[in-house]
Amino acid sequence: MERRIFLSPPWMSGDELSLVHEAFDSNYIAPCGPMVDRFERVFASRVQIPYAVALASGTAALDLLFHELGVTRGDFIFCSDLTFISSIGPAFHRGARPVFLDCDEATWTMNPELLEEALADANRQNRLPKAVVAVDLYGQCCDYDRIERLCKSYEVPLIIDAAEALGARYGTRSAGDAGMASVYSFNGNKIITTSGGGMLCSRDRGIVERARKRSQQSRESVAWYEHLEVGYNYRMSNIVAAIGVGQLAHLDEILRKKREIESWYRAGLPDFTFMPEASYGTSNRWLTVVQFPEQGAGRNGTLSAMVERMRQTLEQENIESRPVWKPMHLQPVFQGCLCYGGSCSERLFANGLCLPSGVSLTRSDADRVIETLHAS
Ligand SMILES: Cc1ncc(COP(=O)(O)O)c(C=O)c1O
Repeated sequence: MERRIFLSPPWMSGDELSLVHEAFDSNYIAPCGPMVDRFERVFASRVQIPYAVALASGTAALDLLFHELGVTRGDFIFCSDLTFISSIGPAFHRGARPVFLDCDEATWTMNPELLEEALADANRQNRLPKAVVAVDLYGQCCDYDRIERLCKSYEVPLIIDAAEALGARYGTRSAGDAGMASVYSFNGNKIITTSGGGMLCSRDRGIVERARKRSQQSRESVAWYEHLEVGYNYRMSNIVAAIGVGQLAHLDEILRKKREIESWYRAGLPDFTFMPEASYGTSNRWLTVVQFPEQGAGRNGTLSAMVERMRQTLEQENIESRPVWKPMHLQPVFQGCLCYGGSCSERLFANGLCLPSGVSLTRSDADRVIETLHAS
């Protein structure tokens, strides 16, 4: 059996381990310490957003934002339909009711026209959402200008879920530089990884400082343990932050490699359709995602026969691939939740496949993937 090719395994530059040693030597084996401060500083500088707090995960960052907004039972949250469940999960736990918004064919991110329609309906019914969560899917920014304008006109807070999008751009803005705040993820398969971790960023200092306090059990700054509210244990550890500092220093190199990987696939698979890049920005190409022509199959929330055959053939060759995110409105747990549109995300799920895109992927690995796809 040939060596396994993973979808998006971690890639370490080599600097990370010496930074972890530095953290060990300082004996800050704790969820606070100089590496956490340093990671926040370099991260904020990289994304050009002034305030950042490092957390245990992207999900924790979203949960803190839902807390900040006071999301509670019965509230509505508008959320991109084509995403990973974390975009909405923490709000659901608070009793909020999701309303999903289909994506735009041209970008695969939230369709601003559907958002406009949904906000107008909600306004008429006097039940505007507590927040809109717009996702930068597979490293492509959603249409910040249009989505921001709509949210502002109804005075609805906008959260950018940039978990997958570090390094992407919307015009001159970095991914995540929109709305009230944004979140990023550093889990094992993301564009940079700390094994697990997340960041919450905002231009509003108050949002970040309240999240920082809540991520550390909302302890008051007095010598004894004093609490005016109940917080969480969501802070990133100093050891993990050391990995983040090492990874972030190589982001440009990682972005270049991701783009190169996609160019290999494009050259080797000229008959395939690739995820489009929006004219307003630059994707980070976190994963190379292809679309197959509709086969008629794939209705009722299942993969098309062709995609499943491709996936299985790759698997037999010890190559990991993954279907596109299954839309939220098709998830049994969200049965009955309102969804505006839905056919675009259904089609992308049924006919799409994410190809191995790890930074350590070699040209010959890509050729193995390409040959297997040709043969199937
Ligand atoms: C779109 C999206 N949102 C949120 C998350 C959650 O991030 P984490 O795994 O760090 O909690 C992820 C990744 O897992 C994601 O892909």
